Parts: sequence; structure tokens; C-alpha cells
Amino acid sequence: MLIRNETADDVAAIGRVVTRALSMLAQSTGTEAGIVEALRAAGGLTLSLVAEEEGEVVGYLAASPARIGIRDGWSLIGPLAVLPARHRQGIGTALMEDALCRLRATSRGAALVGDPAYYGRFGFRAFPGLGVAGCPPEVVQALPFDGIAPRGELIHHPAFGLGQKA
Ligand SMILES: CC(C)(COP(=O)(O)OP(=O)(O)OC[C@H]1O[C@@H](n2cnc3c(N)ncnc32)[C@H](O)[C@@H]1OP(=O)(O)O)[C@@H](O)C(=O)NCCC(=O)NCCS
Repeated sequence: MLIRNETADDVAAIGRVVTRALSMLAQSTGTEAGIVEALRAAGGLTLSLVAEEEGEVVGYLAASPARIGIRDGWSLIGPLAVLPARHRQGIGTALMEDALCRLRATSRGAALVGDPAYYGRFGFRAFPGLGVAGCPPEVVQALPFDGIAPRGELIHHPAFGLGQKA
């Protein structure tokens, strides 16, 4: 399996992988592929990594610039998506490890909204005072590379359409 940056040829396949993977998730809004397109159009994809196997895109990870409270320099990871038929084969882990390695060089830390049972293994955790309006606090998690506990609202890129204050 190869983890690499997206190319223009991957765009349709990325949309399919994101839609198929996220449709398995009860809390999916069905808008995730559109969010990736909006991030791409806005130049908001800090990372756009595909997992390729035998010429097929089987997994995808996006990262975009984010802020926590008044501190910028964070990267928000998501969506992370693996084709349902390929779950539990280490593809999500490979994408995440590659992303964290790259982001350590450029970001204060990584943050995301997701299942703590999965993301805890990469070092993500909730912090007192870290949140996103309308989300249970335990699903809003961060991995500060500088060890400084983040506090405040996790502000996503406007392409997520959350209506947060910029
Ligand atoms: C979550 C997801 C990206 C994981 O990808 P994956 O390639 O299946 O994950 P891996 O094979 O790397 O799994 C690593 C470990 O996490 C576990 N795991 C996988 N999905 C899990 C989940 N939803 N909850 C808890 N543990 C999970 C695996 O059992 C494995 O554990 P092990 O190493 O002890 O065997 C994938 O299941 C997916 O696309 N799900 C639907 C979309 C989604 O939930 N995206 C995240 C929110 S944006």
C-alpha cells in the first residue's frame, strides 16, 4: 500500500471513498465529500492523502488549518475514510501515522471530532474546556505537539459550514 498526496486524477475516487465510508456512520451528514471539495476549492487542504493499492484509492485523509480558542497553527484532521470492504486492515492507521508525521513539522498540534475509542490509540484525547458547540465534549480531541493543553472552541475552516466565528 502506498500513502501519497492526492493528484487531480484522484478527485472523483476520493469523493466515492469518503461517501461510501462515511455512510456507515450514524452521525454522518452526507455532506463530507462536499466539504472536501469545498476545502480543495478554497485552498484549505493542508494535507490530502490517499491510500492506494493496486492502482485503486482505498482510503483518504484530509487536514485543514484550524484554531483552538485564540491560538492558530492547529491542523484539523478529517474526514478520515477507508472503503468499507477494506476496514480493519491497517489502512486508517497508516494514513493517520503518515499525516501526524507530516503535521508535526508544520503545526502546533492536530485536532479532530470523532470516536475516542478509535482516535485514542494515536494519542488524541479530550481536554477541559476544549469543544465545539453542539458536540459532546468527549468527541472533540486534540494531540498537542508542544505538550501545551489546548483550551477553547475548535474553530474549523469555513468550508465545514459550521457557522463558527472566524
Ligand atoms: C474509522 C476508520 C477510518 C478506521 O480505518 P481502518 O483502516 O478500518 O482502521 P485500522 O485497520 O487502521 O484500525 C486500527 C485499529 O482500530 C480498530 N478500529 C477500527 N475502527 C474502529 C472504530 N470505529 N472504533 C474503535 N476501534 C476501531 C481496529 O480494530 C484496529 O484495532 P487493532 O489494531 O487492535 O486490530 C474506518 O473504519 C472508516 O472509514 N470508518 C467510517 C468512517 C469514519 O468513521 N471516519 C472517521 C470519522 S471522520
